[in-house]
Amino acid sequence: MRLACTVNGEAREVDGLWEGESLLHVLRERLGLPGAKNACEQGECGSCSIYLDGELVCSCLVLAGQAEGSEVVTVEGLAEEGELSPVQEAFLAAGAVQCGFCTPGLVVATDDLLRRNPSPSDAEIREALAGNLCRCTGYEKILDAVRAAAR
Ligand code: FES
Ligand code: FES
Repeated sequence: MRLACTVNGEAREVDGLWEGESLLHVLRERLGLPGAKNACEQGECGSCSIYLDGELVCSCLVLAGQAEGSEVVTVEGLAEEGELSPVQEAFLAAGAVQCGFCTPGLVVATDDLLRRNPSPSDAEIREALAGNLCRCTGYEKILDAVRAAAR
């Protein structure tokens, strides 16, 4: 099976996909984009969050074939010309990273939230990030980072 799509603004083609292969696997193992993390592979943790045609999705739940002709943006694609995005900067500055496994998904989910709602309340932040699990932090630094990015 073959997949042709746009990833972070570049046309990419992948041959030899197996039936049932996830988009997450394609990104990480075939396209050299390890930003989206494989933590649960069941749609439970949000570590694999990406944009698919502008929609926030768990890439572990997307069949690679479903991305045919689509525009995919990963956490790597949020940094423009080598400069971290404001959300990426805010996570760094707030120290909202421990092991970092959840961080790419949180960054993409925060980017999505702030595109839709540039001044979210704490309740709106918590709701938007409810699908992103972190096993390391008490979430306070993560909330600080989102508030800072919104500012
Ligand atoms: S790895 Fe996709 S939701 Fe956990
Ligand atoms: S920083 Fe380790 S899982 Fe979130």
